[in-house]
Amino acid sequence: RENETEPADLTGKKIVVTAGGTREALDPVRYLGNRSSGKQGLAIALAAADRGADVHLILAHTEVPDPDETEKLRISRVSSALELLEATERAAIEDRADVVVMTAAVADFRPRDLSETKIKKDPEAQDAPTIDLVRNPDILKTLVRKKSEGKHQAFLVGFAAETGSPEQSVAELGRLKLESKGCDVLVVNEVGTDLVFGKDRTAATLLTRGAEPGEESEVRGTKADLARRLMTRIASHFNIPPQ
Ligand code: CTP
Ligand code: CA
Repeated sequence: RENETEPADLTGKKIVVTAGGTREALDPVRYLGNRSSGKQGLAIALAAADRGADVHLILAHTEVPDPDETEKLRISRVSSALELLEATERAAIEDRADVVVMTAAVADFRPRDLSETKIKKDPEAQDAPTIDLVRNPDILKTLVRKKSEGKHQAFLVGFAAETGSPEQSVAELGRLKLESKGCDVLVVNEVGTDLVFGKDRTAATLLTRGAEPGEESEVRGTKADLARRLMTRIASHFNIPPQ
């Protein structure tokens, strides 16, 4: 382990982390994308490996260099939401993951049709095409459903970025999303001008399904700090005392 001060409390656990933004192809050269630096997912993968877990990092499109693969950290690449769904399901079901952390920014929609050839404009006309979209599957909800069907047993962690308002706080929005997703833990990031996206610092609340509001824990710090807190939360789920 790189950091000997971290307890090896996740040794033997298989942790899958998805990171980055998916791209939904429109034609051979164009896509609809979801912006995501991938920093938070990478920090989580590194924190998990540091605590002794066997990490499978499934990367969509990121804006930071890939970490080095090690004995504890394996990397797969995907592009679209459908590819991410397939890779994540396989990791949960066939590879029997103990934990899946969904930090990936999944495009909610994809173009209905993929043009085999580059879409050209008519130089004579001023018209523009209309792009029909269809919904992508919700990967996290799919994992929740398959768990309830007994197909896997992974502890499921979702991430959400929300902007609060005077009417509804970020934590309230997060609680609603946690209920609708049905995952075990939801990390809610407060989106602000200098927070979260592409930045190293973050402000987040860890919400647990079925927990009282008082049991929520808030984390303000770097993405690595949040990653370590999440690992402690995951270790406590497995009831492993720190070594
Ligand atoms: N997620 C997913 N599959 C999708 C969309 C989102 O697995 N098709 C996951 C994300 O990886 C994240 C969590 O769901 O862990 C919350 O993502 P978010 O975009 O906040 O949720 P949505 O249900 O898409 O809600 P919204 O309409 O606010 O975008
Ligand atoms: Ca979404």
